[in-house]
Amino acid sequence: MEEFVSGQLKYLKPSEENWQPQDWLPDMTDEDWVERVEAFREPAKGLSDAVLVVLVGDMVTEEALPTYQKLINGFEGISDETGTDPSPWAQWTRGWTAEENRHGDLLNKYLYLTGRVDMRAVELTIQNLLRNGFDPSTAQDPYKGFVYTSFQERATKVSHKNVAQLARAEGDDSLQGICSAIASDEARHEKVYTNFMSHIFEQDPNGSVLAFHDLMRSQVVMPSHLMQDGSGPDLFENFSAIAQQLGVYTAKHYGDIVEHLVHSWNVEHLTGLNGEAAEAQDYLCRLGSRYAKLAERSQRRQAKIEPRQFSWIFNRAV
Ligand SMILES: [Fe+2]
Ligand SMILES: [Fe+2]
Repeated sequence: MEEFVSGQLKYLKPSEENWQPQDWLPDMTDEDWVERVEAFREPAKGLSDAVLVVLVGDMVTEEALPTYQKLINGFEGISDETGTDPSPWAQWTRGWTAEENRHGDLLNKYLYLTGRVDMRAVELTIQNLLRNGFDPSTAQDPYKGFVYTSFQERATKVSHKNVAQLARAEGDDSLQGICSAIASDEARHEKVYTNFMSHIFEQDPNGSVLAFHDLMRSQVVMPSHLMQDGSGPDLFENFSAIAQQLGVYTAKHYGDIVEHLVHSWNVEHLTGLNGEAAEAQDYLCRLGSRYAKLAERSQRRQAKIEPRQFSWIFNRAV
């Protein structure tokens, strides 16, 4: 499918046309840099602890990019053997990484400049996450890999978009702009991974539906689920609970994404599938409504969660 992939490279923007982190940050070479930094910090003073926590969690997730590039480059048949392969697959993966790298970079600089979070605790979490890695259960299978990345890019898009809205509500317009810009990158990436998978569905519907099914049999693992700050084993769970509470990323979003992917790949209308694949199709078509019910239940549970402490915000509880 190299020709198809080649056609998708247009969704990567030329570097000169991409935004760069500096476009969103005070220019430290300006003579009045002190005033600029002060003006930049002012609205961030009004951000709630809960918003800071989800923002840090999102930033930590973005900063573990080396893990994700390694994962994608390990999918069978698409790897960049030399590091400068001219193949469309290798061009995509390098271009994707280069765009993604701006996300963690920008959020990291933003948080540093605000002076609102314990940067050392945050940096420690990033280092631990990179050391711990993550296993999305795709192995080296590119089918599962692209189902996973389609899911994950949509999940990050949703999450950054929702943080942008919260930033706006709490009066920080720079942060709103930053999170919206990142969300729009995620949307382009989501489109490409979903297109890769659509093409694979056309060529091999049986294999595709089985890969999709296998990945959805257990909960999709989030890229930062092994994050640690040394305070105990529950950091990711605590961060997820706040994201759920704020409505940034919830069980409902999870179910909606599954349903969206089922529709995007036209799973319900696939015909001529073999026995096992037909069962997988059936399972996938029911999955959205199953998650909708689970989401309702978890929404009720969320109402009663205890406050949790975060090292990122100097051990205050949220
Ligand atoms: Fe990203
Ligand atoms: Fe992404």
